[in-house]
Amino acid sequence: MHAMLKKASGKNIRADLENLGRFNSTPGEGLTRILFTEQELKARTYIKDRMRELGLSVHEDAIGNIFGRLPGTDPELSPVWTGSHIDTVPHAGQFDGMAGVVGGMEALRLIGESGRPHARDLEVVVFTSEEPTRFGKGCLGSRALAGDLTRDEAAALTDAGGNTLRDVLAELGYDEDGFSEIKRERGSVYACVELHIEQGAVLENLGIKTGVVTAISAPTDLRVTVKGTQQHAGATPMYLRKDALTAAARIMLKAEELARRAENVSTVATVGAVRAYPGATNVIPGRVEFSVDLRSSDLQEKNGILETLRCYMEFTALECDVDISEETVCHEHPARADSHIIQAIRTVCDEKNEPYHLMVSGAYHDSMFVARFAPFGMIFVPSRGGISHHRDEWTDYGDIALGADILAETLLRLSSETPETKETSIPSNENG
Ligand code: GLV
Ligand code: MN
Ligand code: MN
Repeated sequence: MHAMLKKASGKNIRADLENLGRFNSTPGEGLTRILFTEQELKARTYIKDRMRELGLSVHEDAIGNIFGRLPGTDPELSPVWTGSHIDTVPHAGQFDGMAGVVGGMEALRLIGESGRPHARDLEVVVFTSEEPTRFGKGCLGSRALAGDLTRDEAAALTDAGGNTLRDVLAELGYDEDGFSEIKRERGSVYACVELHIEQGAVLENLGIKTGVVTAISAPTDLRVTVKGTQQHAGATPMYLRKDALTAAARIMLKAEELARRAENVSTVATVGAVRAYPGATNVIPGRVEFSVDLRSSDLQEKNGILETLRCYMEFTALECDVDISEETVCHEHPARADSHIIQAIRTVCDEKNEPYHLMVSGAYHDSMFVARFAPFGMIFVPSRGGISHHRDEWTDYGDIALGADILAETLLRLSSETPETKETSIPSNENG
């Protein structure tokens, strides 16, 4: 067995996370850092400066994905990536996304300082806007890398203030002509390993510090509008009503029932946003809008549920005498982690005598889009109480350092593989 790398520094990880945490639009009320706001731009500058301090060469593409490169010995070979995101949902914690960026930089520091040769370049990537907070669509940077967000689509994405992504990018000086160069072809990246907090309580419950992701469950987001008749709550007898909210409630309960009855435990349905109009106690709601976030690692099961739910909407429209329309905001495909990368992570854990748990990621990540052009793997570290997308989100710095250790050893292994030395070929991902 070869010598292990030095251990990651919990102190470095803490310092970077706390420094990043200062770039916050809502101090005292959790961490809010939305794409291309003043605070997010400051966080970008911080990361680029830190990358340069670590001796990485830095570049940024036309959608703001940031790459920090540690060169390998053979520039002809495709690189190995790690990374995550630095934007947040509103009033979040300081770990979702950031742990993977900071842990990735620490891993590259350990490899660089070890002087151990690696054939392939290693790159830590900050993917632009994993959260859908500003433009309604998540994973903008990784989506564009996968060729799934074109220049025209960027022109069509609009934020709450009416600004398009294209205009915001242009104002910040990103070169629109560079858009065509963002997309990565299959084979251009050898492997990608993302470190992330679990965001659930599985690892904590098992008392295990490391999760090895086998698949990422993919969301389908619907926006449903029910139109009934706005009437007086007292003067309208029950048999004369067209209540948009009671019709909407039937659909919401149906979505829940279908997910509860699903065979795959990763299949979940959430109605997280509801608006009833006009929203007064003594008025029958005439219009209701709500979201459905349906996820599964089993695409067939998810498609089946969607079909049933759509039939049920038609049935409800007839039975309740209301109009129901539905817009599909996104319909993503689950991504399977690459078996060779999973095995590399497991081998590293075994060498370290570190127990691990194989698990499906219920949250989505940039890796879901990376899967479209490169084999990927993910390492999870525990989330205290399973709390995430919340200001109380917490992961112990030591646990992130352990994740960074496993990441560093895995990256070193993968970046040392050449067409000559690799025994088994990396199977191409099936999600393309
Ligand atoms: C990503 O943050 C998700 O909603 O899974
Ligand atoms: Mn998130
Ligand atoms: Mn995240």
